[in-house]
Amino acid sequence: MSDHPIQQLVDDHRYILMVVNHLNSLAPGIAGSEPVDVPLLRQAVEFMREFADHCHHGKEEDLLFPALVEANVPESGCPIGGLKGEHVKGRKLVGQLEEGINLLETDEAQARQTLCEAIRGIALLYPDHIWKEDAMVFPMAERLLSDAEVNGLKVGFAEVEKTHAHHHQKHTEFALSLQAA
Ligand SMILES: [Fe+2]
Ligand SMILES: [Fe+2]
Repeated sequence: MSDHPIQQLVDDHRYILMVVNHLNSLAPGIAGSEPVDVPLLRQAVEFMREFADHCHHGKEEDLLFPALVEANVPESGCPIGGLKGEHVKGRKLVGQLEEGINLLETDEAQARQTLCEAIRGIALLYPDHIWKEDAMVFPMAERLLSDAEVNGLKVGFAEVEKTHAHHHQKHTEFALSLQAA
């Protein structure tokens, strides 16, 4: 992993997209009558919570966005307010994904519908969200932030990564295994 903080976020995005794309590829089977791979879906929920939300969104919301606000980017509206709103939407969709998994035991038809809706939402949200960050927000950060501020992010990101180090490898290996599949 690169130690440049912006490159770290770009690298995280690649793993997130591997999981999102795989989930999307499962949707037609879930909508039909194919068996649902519950352990895989549960692991995807864990990945989206721990890797994508707590760790990756944590670095963005607690460190990158405040640094941009310090550099006079407005805190609400486009882009920061919009991106934070999308993080909230992402959390809800992952909750819906989990709800769908839990429903499988009691109401399979409803469970399949809930799972498909959640996956459709996730597949619509994340690639677009990631594109906005990669193509617009990160280049803007590279223009606006001084070397000292980038260094501050590097230190802050290392702290966040340390908190999540115990499951980082499990999650990146999971994403790579899905890409290979
Ligand atoms: Fe984000
Ligand atoms: Fe991101």
